[in-house]
Amino acid sequence: MTDNSASDKPWGGRFTESTDAFVEAFTASVSFDRRLYQYDIQGSRAHAQMLAKVGVLTDAERDSILTGLQQIEDDIRTGQFDWSVSLEDVHMNIESRLTALIGEAGKKLHTGRSRNDQVATDLRLYLREQIDAACAELVRLQLSLLELAERETETIMPGFTHLQVAMPVTFGHHMLAWFENLQRDRQRLQDCRRRVNVMPLGAAALAGTSFPVDRDFTAQLLGFDSPAENSLDAVSDRDFVIEFCACAALLLTHLSRFSEELILWASAQFDFIDLPDRFCTGSSIMPQKKNPDVPELVRGKSGRVIGHLVGLLTLMKGQPLAYNKDNQEDKEPLFDTVDTVLGCLRAFADMIPALEVKAANMRQAASRGYSTATDLADYLVRKGVAFRDAHEIVGSAVRLGIESHRDLSEMSLAELQTLSPVIEADVFKVLTLDGSVSARNHFGGTAPHQVREAISRARKRLKD
Ligand code: ARG
Repeated sequence: MTDNSASDKPWGGRFTESTDAFVEAFTASVSFDRRLYQYDIQGSRAHAQMLAKVGVLTDAERDSILTGLQQIEDDIRTGQFDWSVSLEDVHMNIESRLTALIGEAGKKLHTGRSRNDQVATDLRLYLREQIDAACAELVRLQLSLLELAERETETIMPGFTHLQVAMPVTFGHHMLAWFENLQRDRQRLQDCRRRVNVMPLGAAALAGTSFPVDRDFTAQLLGFDSPAENSLDAVSDRDFVIEFCACAALLLTHLSRFSEELILWASAQFDFIDLPDRFCTGSSIMPQKKNPDVPELVRGKSGRVIGHLVGLLTLMKGQPLAYNKDNQEDKEPLFDTVDTVLGCLRAFADMIPALEVKAANMRQAASRGYSTATDLADYLVRKGVAFRDAHEIVGSAVRLGIESHRDLSEMSLAELQTLSPVIEADVFKVLTLDGSVSARNHFGGTAPHQVREAISRARKRLKD
C-alpha cells in the first residue's frame, strides 16, 4: 500500500479518490471467492518456490512467505481470519495479510504474477478436486446399481415405451441402463479434467512476464499436466468451467429422469418400489402421505444446473480477449453446480442400496397390458407367417383379450388356433413373461443370463 495515495487498495497508486462505497461492495467478490482460499495459497506456495528457484526471491524470502502462508491457512481454517470487503477478493485479502505478517518479503510474492493468471489457476485447482470427488461418488452410485441389478436379475417388470406397457424386461437390466448413463457421465468428467488440468500461471495479466519464470517447474509442483500454451488464452477463457457445467447438466438430466421413474414407481398406482422412510417426508395435513422428496428435489435441482450452463455460455459469448471483469461472475454458478452435483450424487448413492423392490407387483403389471404380444408375432414368423401378417393376427388376439378381460397366456389353444392355424401347444412357452425375457438372449439383451454377463463386464469397466 502506498502512503500518499487517496486509495487504500493494493492498486491505489494511480487513484486520486477512494472507491465509492457502493461500487466497492458491488465489485467485491470476497464473499464468495474466499471459498478458493486453499487453492490460492497452494498456487502462491508454488509461485514463491519457483521465484526462488530462478533467483527472483532469496531462499530466506521464500521461506518467510511459506511460513506466512501457512499461518494464514491455519487462521482461515480455524475462523480467525478477518476478511475485508475493501480488499475486494480472496487474492488481495491473503496477500495483504501476508505483508502484514512478514513485511517486505510479502510484497514480493506478486512478482511476475497477476490476479488474472492467479484466479484462473485457483479455479482450475479447485475444479480438478471437485471432479475427482464427483467421480468417486459416481463410482459409489454405479456400484450400488450393480449390486441392486445383481439381486434382481430374474425380477420381471414391464418395460415401457410412451409410458405404455411394451415388453417384459428384467429389473436388473433396467438398473444397468442407468449404470450406462452414469458411465458416460463419468467418462465425460474425466475427459473434461484433462482440459482443466492445464496451468495458467506465468501468463500474468495477459502477455506473460519479463521475469525468467520456470513454468514447467510451477506446473509440476501443482500437479498440472503442462503450462498453458498461450498467455492470452490462459487468463481469459472459462471454457473449462462451461465444459464442467455441461457435463453436470447432462448428469443431472440423467438423475432427473431416474428420479421421475422412482417417483412413479413409489406411487400407489405403480407400487413397484418402496423408498425407505429416511429418504421421505410426510405431509403436515394428510396423515397418510409419504412423499418421495429426495428424488423430487434431484429432479428439481437439475433446473438450476442447466440454468447455470446457459448463464455461463452467455457470460462468455461477448468477451473480447483477454481477461474481463465479467469473469468474476463465473464463480457463483460454478460453486452452486459443484454443490448440487455432489449433493445429488450423495443422495442417490445412499438411497439406491436401500430401495425395496416389490417384485410381485412388477410381475403382475407386466402380465397385464399384453407385454408378450411381440413374442407371439415372432412365434408366428418362425412358423412361416410374414411379420406384417403376424402383426395383424396378434392385433386380433389382443382385441379378443381386451373384450374378454384376459391376457394372451390365458386363452385356450383352440381359441388361438381360430386366429391362425399354425399355432400349436408350444405357443404357451413364448407367451410367458419368463419365456419372453429369456428369449432376448444376446449381447445387450434383457435375459437374466445376459444381465449377469453385463454386470461382470460392468464391474471391470468401473475401473475405466
Ligand atoms: N476477483 C477477480 C475474478 O474473479 C479476480 C481477478 C481480478 N483481476 C482484475 N484484473 N481485476 O475474476
